[in-house]
Amino acid sequence: LSFPPHLVREYVEDFELQATQRVLDPFSGIGTTLVECTKLGLDSVGVERNPMSWYASKVKVDWRPDPESLYDHAQQVAEAVTETLATQGIHDGSGRLTVATREVNVGALRKLPASAAKLVIKNSISPLPLHKTLTLLHELEEQKEPEFYDHERLALAGALPSDIGNLRFGPEVGVGKIRHDTAVVDPWLRRVAKITEDLDGLPRERTARVILGDARKLDSLIEKDSIDAVITSPPYPNEKDYTRICRLESVILGFWTTNSDIRDVKKDLVRSNTRSVYKDDQDDMLVEGHPEIQRVAHEIEERRIELGKDSGFERLYSRLIRLYFGGMVRHLSGIRPCLRSGAKLAYVVGDQASYLQVMIRTGALLADLAGHLGFEVLRIDPFRKRFATATAKELQEEVVVLRWPGDS
Ligand SMILES: C[S@@+](CC[C@H](N)C(=O)[O-])C[C@H]1O[C@@H](n2cnc3c(N)ncnc32)[C@H](O)[C@@H]1O
Repeated sequence: LSFPPHLVREYVEDFELQATQRVLDPFSGIGTTLVECTKLGLDSVGVERNPMSWYASKVKVDWRPDPESLYDHAQQVAEAVTETLATQGIHDGSGRLTVATREVNVGALRKLPASAAKLVIKNSISPLPLHKTLTLLHELEEQKEPEFYDHERLALAGALPSDIGNLRFGPEVGVGKIRHDTAVVDPWLRRVAKITEDLDGLPRERTARVILGDARKLDSLIEKDSIDAVITSPPYPNEKDYTRICRLESVILGFWTTNSDIRDVKKDLVRSNTRSVYKDDQDDMLVEGHPEIQRVAHEIEERRIELGKDSGFERLYSRLIRLYFGGMVRHLSGIRPCLRSGAKLAYVVGDQASYLQVMIRTGALLADLAGHLGFEVLRIDPFRKRFATATAKELQEEVVVLRWPGDS
């Protein structure tokens, strides 16, 4: 989901930001803007509502651990886990089940609590790798070293979807080849090693802050008059359920234990897919008077009727578009008091055709809404073209560049 780091550097340069100034990323995801700004010596603050992404970005800007000591500690944990597993007759190897592991009593393996197990996509992790993962998490608690704890857990979150679980990505998340057994400790330790490489040579400090919160309520989260620039990529209306992509690691690390945890997060996100639309949503009212958004929403609804698409989700398509742009209006309204006069803003967005192939010019519409809210639209920079598999068409991604003139 992230955008490339060079894009952040380009806009820091373009906006002529100086070391004393503060950058905000209100949709900070896994923290690309924050990491790059910290590297450039700029103060930065992020807002992110998905707890897994919030945690990832918070850890990524915490450069305090000494790399060598972090690795030594992780190695100790790894040895303890390997030993525990060996006493249970479990070899932490990859590939096929060994004779010994085949004889392991499945009933004796560590499992997720029943309510949490229901939240992960079925078969997204096999029982044996899950047992090893939970054993590793348990050992991290036993040998908890506050300075390293979060970095070690983030390394595990990184290894889960790709190295340990059975997930397949692209374009949607699903279950791929089932690995009945696979190594857990080794891929985890490799990721810790990668973190130590990244930390090596960086100043041992933390400057960026990441707030777990809703970017549509910024006035209650960010100090008034404190932001000099915004570099961000908000969600697009693209039917991607961001809470599904990171479900496995979110549940295993304990961020989500019940369905209502996930619902609470979805309710606070800008609506970008119909699986996160709720009856009492009201952001659509904020774009009632915007002719172009209403026109696009009508076109989607007419196309739906014409094609006889009648599922509950398809019926919500036109409402979703209104809710998405209404949510962005709420975000842009609330950000205004946080900005210093003359603040510049860069929003990376993409055109979309995910809704019955009706073209949605996200950048142009966002620029227009911002203009109505008192922002100056400086320009819309082309960024890159993306190939959309659903429509087999190239869609433009662009950067909407705004300036906040201050309250008049
Ligand atoms: C396109 S991604 C951002 C990716 C980011 N540039 C990075 O480097 O990872 C959009 C992010 O916005 C978050 N988001 C959506 N609605 C939000 C809201 N109302 N408040 C805070 N975060 C939100 C999503 O969870 C997602 O992480």
